[in-house]
Amino acid sequence: MNAAPLPFDWVIRHARIMAPTSGMAGDTPIEDAAVACRDGTIAWVGATRDLPDVPARQNVNAHGRLLTPGLIDCHTHLVFADDRADEFRMRLEGADYADIARAGGGILSTVHATRAADEDALLSQALPRARDLLDDGVTTLEIKSGYGLDLPGERRMLRVARRIGEHLGITVRTSFLGLHALPPQFAGDADGYVRHVCEDMLPTLAGEGLVDAVDAFCDTIGFSREQVQLLFAKARTLGLPVKLHAEQLSDQDGAALTAQYGGLSADHLEYLSERGVRAMASAGTVAVLLPGAFYALRETRRPPIDALRRHGVPMAVATDLNPGSAPVRSLRLAANMACTLFRLTPDEALRGITAHAARALGLADRGTLVPGQRADLVLWKVRTPAELVYWIGGDLVQQVYAGGRPVTHPAN
Ligand code: NIG
Ligand code: FE
Repeated sequence: MNAAPLPFDWVIRHARIMAPTSGMAGDTPIEDAAVACRDGTIAWVGATRDLPDVPARQNVNAHGRLLTPGLIDCHTHLVFADDRADEFRMRLEGADYADIARAGGGILSTVHATRAADEDALLSQALPRARDLLDDGVTTLEIKSGYGLDLPGERRMLRVARRIGEHLGITVRTSFLGLHALPPQFAGDADGYVRHVCEDMLPTLAGEGLVDAVDAFCDTIGFSREQVQLLFAKARTLGLPVKLHAEQLSDQDGAALTAQYGGLSADHLEYLSERGVRAMASAGTVAVLLPGAFYALRETRRPPIDALRRHGVPMAVATDLNPGSAPVRSLRLAANMACTLFRLTPDEALRGITAHAARALGLADRGTLVPGQRADLVLWKVRTPAELVYWIGGDLVQQVYAGGRPVTHPAN
């Protein structure tokens, strides 16, 4: 005799879902779909009429609304003190992002402010930014260090990142970005700083369990390819995955280096070459597009989207939320910009903030609506992916579920 089936925790019926299986191109939407959850995990997905006859503790009628995986913002710098609205004003008056950085402003001005803030002050400034993302459907978030640039400062940032995840009940993945800018205590000695990062800072912070991945800024105002390679070699000995701010302002062949180290992602990529695209394709490195930085810096050169498509490189989209190049507090807005500025299709943009973003973080348990995945989901007030990325602003979230549990949303 068969045992009675275990009840579902909840079932959502009559939802529209886009990519039930793999999140890859070609998936046909299910117009009238049901999703069932048990123990924080997706237990069943399919057409509502095929839903098994299993009792559920809670039933939700979606009335044809769009249901997506919880959104994943795979590139942010949202822990920092103060803001850089003054630089925004200067750039509007003609100053250039790189010139401001060379004059000691830019990243370094946020480093000064962040070093002066204690952990609680950093947390109270960063939490509202993370909350804005969550209120807009984000259930997994990457946060980088990179505004401490010394051991205590980087540690503080990474600890705050972890506390944000605990506070909001969402997943936060941390990236150590010690090679973000040359800090004042190492002025004139970039190689010495790289040694300190590789030999002291990274092993210590990794040993404290604060580092999920290692990142760097490879550019003329950042670090050279050779310096980044030393960092990547160290990350490999520690068993940590790598990613890179690559080809944002110039072509340093950083994406190919990242691919050589089996990197999770190369991010920005406005100056990416065909060679870089090929290397990423063969290593399976995700291209993370950051249209908010492109927009805010009023760049004109676009990442080579057609070449990335042609070579089958998965494209993710992220906010890059930071006080300088991307004061972007909505992942949905970044997806809109990816369509309008970079010509992604709405379906590509949606995969970019779900399935491909999960891959850019090395997370195989989320980003698609399939049984066995974490029950991170968003029920929207709209019906199609096109409508989701078409609205600019507004409150489109009906209900967010993180790990199977409804997240309280101010509008509900
Ligand atoms: O991703 N390019 C380097 N890092 C950040 C900007 C950080 C800042 O300006 O504070 C970025 O654009
Ligand atoms: Fe960034």
